[in-house]
Amino acid sequence: VAGQTTDVRKVLIIGIGAGNPDHLTLQAVKAIGATQVFFIIEKANAPELGALRDEMIDRHATPGEHRVVVIPEVARDRDPDDYERAVADWHEARARRLGDAIVAELADGETGAILVWGDPSLYDSTLRVLETVRRLGDTELDHEVIPGITSVQALAASHRIPLHGVGEPVLVTTGRRLVGGVQAPNTVVMLDGQEAFRAVDADGTTIHWGAYLGTDDEITVAGPLAEVADRITEVRAQARDEHGWIMDIYLLQGDG
Ligand SMILES: C[S@@+](CC[C@H](N)C(=O)[O-])C[C@H]1O[C@@H](n2cnc3c(N)ncnc32)[C@H](O)[C@@H]1O
Repeated sequence: VAGQTTDVRKVLIIGIGAGNPDHLTLQAVKAIGATQVFFIIEKANAPELGALRDEMIDRHATPGEHRVVVIPEVARDRDPDDYERAVADWHEARARRLGDAIVAELADGETGAILVWGDPSLYDSTLRVLETVRRLGDTELDHEVIPGITSVQALAASHRIPLHGVGEPVLVTTGRRLVGGVQAPNTVVMLDGQEAFRAVDADGTTIHWGAYLGTDDEITVAGPLAEVADRITEVRAQARDEHGWIMDIYLLQGDG
């Protein structure tokens, strides 16, 4: 990680792991320590996650030499007629806000950072938003990615399993895409608000499910899908009521 550079604004995109504060790599700890301005895109829906992120900054940033800039999240239409268009518009609106904040708050030669849940390569828009900031053109930016532990790895670790049999492939996908059916013998499903596993042919399929992985509230359930699906639905509803939000992920394995 470069510390100070001159003349160019530097932004670090730091993967902070999937819920356990000890998921932070040494590289991430150093990067947080070298950051002067943290740009936080505020999400209202999961306050515990915001608290965890704030705690990481308190613990690893250099005292007295950093500040936090909060950028309000852009509202998003969750059920648009044109999904692709809506996502593109949302990215552009976020990019404008972030670009404006970088120009306003980060002096030349300073280092800024965006802390990203898990790793920025997996179902996260930060890198695309930064590309848009660059494309929109008003901000001279140098950026660097610090990798983090993903929720996929946290799931496998909590269940103490590999994701696949010897030499087999793994598909990582979303609940939305699973609706058409399981497409690979080992399928990891993220971003599933609809419990898409319920629509899967349960015959010969096992599931390893986990919620709030890495946190004190972690819950895991595993077994043949036909036997544990109802239990997952029950546990999930209860946990969601209790917390007001849920983040869960699962691995489906079967005959494909
Ligand atoms: C927007 S994606 C972000 C993924 C993240 N970049 C990563 O590397 O894991 C959010 C999804 O990640 C999964 N997820 C992230 N953290 C999790 C956790 N601690 N426990 C369970 N699932 C998690 C859930 O499927 C959730 O819907």
